[in-house]
Amino acid sequence: MKVKKAVIPVAGLGTRLLPATKAIPKELVPVVSKPAVQWVVESAVESGIEEIIFVNSAGKQAIEDHFDGNAELERTLESKGKTALHEAVVKTRNLAKVASVRQHAPLGLGHAVLQARQVVGDAPFAVILPDELVCGEKPALAQCLEAAEATDGPVIGIVEVPKEDVFRYGIVAAEEHGETTRRITDMVEKPPVEEAPSNLAITGPYVLSPEVFDLIAATEPGSGGEIQITDALRQLAQQRPVHGRFIEGARLDVGQPMGFVQANVTMGLQDPELGESLRAWLKEMVAD
Ligand code: G1P
Repeated sequence: MKVKKAVIPVAGLGTRLLPATKAIPKELVPVVSKPAVQWVVESAVESGIEEIIFVNSAGKQAIEDHFDGNAELERTLESKGKTALHEAVVKTRNLAKVASVRQHAPLGLGHAVLQARQVVGDAPFAVILPDELVCGEKPALAQCLEAAEATDGPVIGIVEVPKEDVFRYGIVAAEEHGETTRRITDMVEKPPVEEAPSNLAITGPYVLSPEVFDLIAATEPGSGGEIQITDALRQLAQQRPVHGRFIEGARLDVGQPMGFVQANVTMGLQDPELGESLRAWLKEMVAD
């Protein structure tokens, strides 16, 4: 399945990271040498994505600016012979084509995705939730795209979570399918533990086709009074086979402080320049 466009909803307030995110978008808080959202965009590009569609809200334009050119900065770095930094800055603006649409109010993830309808057009697309970095051999989106190809239909990234955490997620009911996939028969957004059909949580990414937009448009507000993509996909699963793909790799929730620290340590240890000295320093710290 050829998927060239990825929708990344970034309109959220980032309250779990306050006060760090009072004046800057949570997506721009750095993980080692680049903003969290750049890790997400780079892994989308690695999975074959060519165009990113941010669903953004007022006051967070710095996200688009980050992926735009900055002619003065580039000239200055070049004239000072700061080649590596110049290359890093140019690479950021050349990663992908970037489009942006607005969500005028926090009306839910389904509503956010619906705002991208016109820019997505008539081709299959991905939705990537930016709070989670997956650190593994293959990007999470590449894993889902392979499953979409194999099952010839929509795919959602899923993981097993502890029972006590099911109320935080969309939870699926699923049948055995393949080694890494399940056939989704039902799903419910943030159920209380006693109503959860399983402990299989939706984490994204999602690989979808444009038919889902009509379903979202017809979806009434659900959990939290918001228009939930889970409710629209529940309808979709009644019309055609929808599969879940178990996401392989370490998941780092950069939407909250502990996850951010873990992401910095994990990515820092893998960084060619910092890894070795960080490992030595951590050993000393732990020994203390
Ligand atoms: C969203 C989705 C939910 C999913 C979760 C993953 O919820 O609605 O189905 O499990 O992301 O992080 P949110 O975390 O935006 O409330």
